[in-house]
Amino acid sequence: VTTVTVRLKRRSFLPCISKEELPPYYQPWMDITLRIPELVHSHELRSHINKMPLLSSKFLQKHRELRLAHLALSMMTMGYVWQEGENDTVEVLPCSLAVPCWEVSQRLGLPPILTHADGVLANWRKKDPEGNLELLVRLPGGDSVQGFFLVTLLVELAGVPAVRSIPTVINGVKCGDSEAVARALEDISQSVQDMTDAIKLMQVYVDPSVFYGIMRIYLSGWKDNPCMPKGLIYEGVQTEPLEYSGGSAAQSSLLHCFDELLGIKHEAKNGDFLTRMRSYMPPAHKQLIQDISLQPSLRNFVQQQANEQLNQAFQVCVTKLLAFRSYHINVVSRFITVPAARARQLRNQSRDLEEAMISRAPSALEERGTGGSGIMTFLKSVRDQTKIAFLSET
Ligand code: ALA
Repeated sequence: VTTVTVRLKRRSFLPCISKEELPPYYQPWMDITLRIPELVHSHELRSHINKMPLLSSKFLQKHRELRLAHLALSMMTMGYVWQEGENDTVEVLPCSLAVPCWEVSQRLGLPPILTHADGVLANWRKKDPEGNLELLVRLPGGDSVQGFFLVTLLVELAGVPAVRSIPTVINGVKCGDSEAVARALEDISQSVQDMTDAIKLMQVYVDPSVFYGIMRIYLSGWKDNPCMPKGLIYEGVQTEPLEYSGGSAAQSSLLHCFDELLGIKHEAKNGDFLTRMRSYMPPAHKQLIQDISLQPSLRNFVQQQANEQLNQAFQVCVTKLLAFRSYHINVVSRFITVPAARARQLRNQSRDLEEAMISRAPSALEERGTGGSGIMTFLKSVRDQTKIAFLSET
């Protein structure tokens, strides 16, 4: 527990990247990274990356520099692979990008592809003294890209108090202090409620047609993806192609922590996907989830104590988590299922600009999340497994 406490006190899941610069030696990376949307639009990103010098990663020292480098290199990788859409992908990532991307990934313990830890956790800065945020690196999709990543970041921020209360729950269980556990669970419930309120902003800041028709492909990967069945060769790293999943909210550590705390278990196939996604998190976050999973069972404690306030606090916590997951399903239906149905309908019909955008969306991603799961069945099962965590009335 001490290790959990110490880690959590030190920081939340967000790295501190207040100074968003790399040493000047890496200017060739940043020159391209900061222009990804326009270079994709003019079909020039690949040629710029092909001409990029092969730079050594040895001048990157601090954690924040490595995270920023990983963000830049993985964003360039997504742009490079998907510049021409799902029908004209590449088999090889050139060594000037592949080698540093691989080296930096090895040092951070992250995969060589864009993850939630890059696009969301390490991709923001304060724009003004009022604390308004903006992205460091963008993908094609205009304001909706900013909306998608920043709203997801707001969900992470809303979850910080919950994560900070987890050690209090664990310590309370260990000392048999029902009241402390109940209070900490109430704090967690409030924080999960705030996460739900934050995710509701998605519909304010993200346009479903832009998200579905333009953005999604840049988040997708080369594993469980029919348009890149062989994976991707990282030139200069390995001659065999490698497969990596695209970005997914399943890479956020928040819900993994809550599931472990509350004793929520997922069905075999989904559980495997979720466990695999833990290797797409920074190792310290994965370790935290593991630490939580090894603590004495909160659920058993609640059942043994038979304390009204504690019981109630536990039930509310599960209810709030369930509500978050139900709302997430709602978001997915608005941003994926509905536009997917429209895209199917619109193919081969005359259409206006917005319809043309939707109908150009990658068909391989109609049923799948960008992380490669069968998105709706996955989310519904995960939600239903959460219901099982309710304590029975008796
Ligand atoms: N995982 C989200 C999607 O499938 C981003 O679009």
